[in-house]
Amino acid sequence: VATGLHLDRDPALPLRVGLERALREAVRGGRLRPGERLPSSRELAADLGMARNTIADVYAHLVAEGYLVSARGAGTRVAATAGPAVSGPPAPEPDDVRYDLRPGRPDLGLFPQSAWLVATRRALNSGTAAALGYGDVRGPRPARTALAGYLARVRGVVADPDRIVLCSGYRQAVALLAAALRDQGRARVAVESPGLPEVAEMLSQAGLSAVDLPVDVDGVQVAGLDGLDVAAAVVTPAHQFPTGVPLSPSRRVGLLDWAARNDGVVLEDDYDGEFRYDRQPIGALQGLAPERVVYAGSASKTLAPGLRLGWLVVPGGLLDAVVEQKRLADRHSSTLDHLALAELITAGEYDRHVRRARLHYRRRRDELAAALDRPVLGIRAGLHVVLPLPSATAETETLVRLARAGVAVNGLARYGSAGSGLAIGYAAPPQHLWPSALAALMCELGPDVDNPGHQAGGLPGGRGATRNLHAVT
Ligand SMILES: Cc1ncc(COP(=O)(O)O)c(C=O)c1O
Repeated sequence: VATGLHLDRDPALPLRVGLERALREAVRGGRLRPGERLPSSRELAADLGMARNTIADVYAHLVAEGYLVSARGAGTRVAATAGPAVSGPPAPEPDDVRYDLRPGRPDLGLFPQSAWLVATRRALNSGTAAALGYGDVRGPRPARTALAGYLARVRGVVADPDRIVLCSGYRQAVALLAAALRDQGRARVAVESPGLPEVAEMLSQAGLSAVDLPVDVDGVQVAGLDGLDVAAAVVTPAHQFPTGVPLSPSRRVGLLDWAARNDGVVLEDDYDGEFRYDRQPIGALQGLAPERVVYAGSASKTLAPGLRLGWLVVPGGLLDAVVEQKRLADRHSSTLDHLALAELITAGEYDRHVRRARLHYRRRRDELAAALDRPVLGIRAGLHVVLPLPSATAETETLVRLARAGVAVNGLARYGSAGSGLAIGYAAPPQHLWPSALAALMCELGPDVDNPGHQAGGLPGGRGATRNLHAVT
C-alpha cells in the first residue's frame, strides 16, 4: 500500500498539518476510496521521513473526524461513509453540540446590547458622510484615536492613531501583514507550534513559508529563531494559544533581541490580553519595541467575534505596505461599527464591559478548576484551560465520548501539538447552561481519569512541561 499512496503535501505548511490536509483531500477527492487500506504508521513514517508518532496522531485525528476507521488487526482504512465531496452548500455546524466548550468563544449573552445601540446611534449622529461614506483606509480617525488611548492605557501599547489600521478581525490582520511582508521580499515566517492553524494557512496563502517554532512551559522557544532563517515571527506572548502559558521575561527580551539583530518583524497576537485573573495583565511586547513589533488586537473575545472588529498597530517601515494591502482587500472595514466602538470606549462602556466580563469568566474558571481538581495549563488568563492527557489515543477517545454527550471541546492535535490534551473553553455557554455544561464535561472526564499531570511527557512542548506544570498554572 505504501508505494501506491501519493500525497500532495504543501511544503509551506507544518508537516503534521500538511499531511493531515493532504489525506483529507485525498479522501474527499476520491483518490483514496472508501474501505481502502492505508499504509501502517511505520511504513508511512519511513516513506515520508516523519516521526511515527506524528503519523499515528494524524491517523487518530482523521479517525475522530470520520474520514478513517481503525480496527485492531485490520489497520487503518478509509471510512465506508467517506467519499468524494459532493458540491452544494457547506455542511452546517453540527447542531447536536449541546454544550459549547470550545476555546476562544466568549459568552455572547454578555454583549452590551444597550450600550452598543446607544453608541451606534451616536455614531450615526456624527454625520451621514462620516458614518456612511467611503473613508480613510485605516478606519475613521475618531476610532483610531479612541483605540490608541485605550491600548496605551490598558495594554501599554505605544499607539499613534496614524499607525493604527482597523480591519476585519485578527484573521484579516494576519493576511494583510503577510501580504505586506511578501511585497517587501520577505519569504519565511516562524509560527508557534502548537498554534492557531489558520495562521500558517494564511501565510501560505500569501506565498510565504510558515516555519514551526516549538512552545514549552516558558512560551515559544525564541532561541530557535536564529537557526530558522525567518524574517518574522508570529507570537502570542501574553497567553500562548493554545497552551495558555505566558512568554517568560527572558524570552521576551530574547525575541526582541533577535528582531533587532536580524531586522526581524514580530507579530504580537494579543487576542485575550485583557483577561488575566490573578494580577494586572502582562503588558504588550509592542510597548518595548514599537518599530519592530506589529501589535494585533481583536474585539472577538471582549465583545463578539461576529463583529469582525480587529486592529493593527504598525511600525513605520511597514505602514504604507499594510495600508495598501487593506485598500486592495476591501478599501476599509465598516465605518459605522468603528465609530460605535469609539463611542463605547470614550463613554467608558468598553472598560466597564471588560471588567464585568473578567469577573464573570473568573468565576467560571474557578468553578471549572474546582471541578477538574487536577493540574491544568493556562488557568491564570484567557477563556480556556488545557487539560493534558497521556496519549493521542486518550485524546481521541475523550473527544469522541464528549461529543456523544453533546460536549464540544478541542483536542490539542488540531493545533499541531506534540503533546496530547484538551483545550476546554469556559466562556461560551450561556449562563443558564453553564452548570449543566460543567456537569456533562465532568461526567465524561470522570474522577477516575488518571491524573495526567503526574505522568511524564504528555504536554504541549514535550519533556519537562509536566514537571513544571505548577510553575505555570
Ligand atoms: C489565537 C487567536 N488569535 C486571535 C483570535 C481572534 O481572531 P478574530 O479576530 O479573527 O476573530 C483568536 C480567535 O479565535 C485566536 O484563537
